[in-house]
Amino acid sequence: MSFQQSECLTVCVTGAGGFIASWLVKLLLHKGYFVQGTVRDPDDPKNDHLKRLEGADERLRLFKANLLDYQSFRIAFDGCQGVFHTASPVTDDPEKMIEPAIKGTENVISAAADAGVKRLVFTSSIGTVYMDPNRDTETIVDESCWSDLEYCKSTRNWYCYGKTMAEKVAWEMAAKREVDLIVVSPVLVIGPLLQPSINASSIHILKYLNGAVKTYANAVQAYVHVGDVAEAHVLVFESATARGRYICGESMLHRGEVVDLLRSLFPCYPIPSVCKDEVNPKVKPYKLSTQKIQDLGLKFTPTKETLRQTVTSLEEKGFLHAPRLSTLNFDS
Ligand SMILES: NC(=O)c1ccc[n+]([C@@H]2O[C@H](COP(=O)([O-])OP(=O)(O)OC[C@H]3O[C@@H](n4cnc5c(N)ncnc54)[C@H](OP(=O)(O)O)[C@@H]3O)[C@@H](O)[C@H]2O)c1
Repeated sequence: MSFQQSECLTVCVTGAGGFIASWLVKLLLHKGYFVQGTVRDPDDPKNDHLKRLEGADERLRLFKANLLDYQSFRIAFDGCQGVFHTASPVTDDPEKMIEPAIKGTENVISAAADAGVKRLVFTSSIGTVYMDPNRDTETIVDESCWSDLEYCKSTRNWYCYGKTMAEKVAWEMAAKREVDLIVVSPVLVIGPLLQPSINASSIHILKYLNGAVKTYANAVQAYVHVGDVAEAHVLVFESATARGRYICGESMLHRGEVVDLLRSLFPCYPIPSVCKDEVNPKVKPYKLSTQKIQDLGLKFTPTKETLRQTVTSLEEKGFLHAPRLSTLNFDS
């Protein structure tokens, strides 16, 4: 199946007002798609940025939907050839995370099957892939890897637990209901915000600039630009040969490297220079393969540039205020 004729195709994006989904809606409109976006409240001003996107007047319709309500998605998917399921809680609170992530995925896949949707792209996470304490350091983490559910539980990583369960349910249900499922698994996503509110992965960078933290963690993390993640979703949707899971990430950095990059770009901020862990050796990056999505044609934005755009956007949106020159101490 190939969806390269985007004009006149109708697709639905769940959780359309979110950080990643807003970029996805923007790209789909730009490519000529008709977009049905689900949000929890179409009248909430936090979704107004969607209505201002180019093409939105003619080709974007917003639907009210909640992950726990099958019928709301069944209505939103009517007439859609494709669905992009991005809506999910992003939290480590087990009460708020697990049920909506799993039940929501069940509802979305059932509604897509019942509405005759041709292909469903599910936004999973690297959190469903890399959380495995038994992997040796030489193993290359790729699309064949799965996080260990017991390890997620024992480390109380309820976000990774919920996303892993949700993706497993997605694969089981898609097989049963004969839905053509493709999964995109982004690493930590940063870049400019289109939405007016701040999301969890943008706070990951904000906290190093606004004085909220005085030290950085002895940890590694992979990063990717939000625009590249949106593009990955459209690439896998449109490609006739796309199958299975696609890890989407540009770089793998120790937090020490992240703060160094931020300091080189924005020396005016109080960016921590001390690692919180003064005892253990520096955590080493694991080997991550993103070859599969690159083979479909995705080119990644370099992370240094992504960090620059992230901070500029946080300033423009009013989440960050560059210290005035008079408050800088040039003696230290
Ligand atoms: N950002 C990252 O680093 C990253 C990395 C890997 C994977 N992901 C995945 O990417 C997807 C989007 O994440 P994001 O970073 O864009 O986060 P986000 O901005 O918080 O977006 C999440 C979206 O899900 C919606 N949502 C949450 N609970 C819902 C519910 N019960 N019913 C209906 N909608 C609900 C939210 O709606 P409201 O606006 O109404 O709350 C929001 O639109 C998620 O599946 C996440 O797991 C994100």
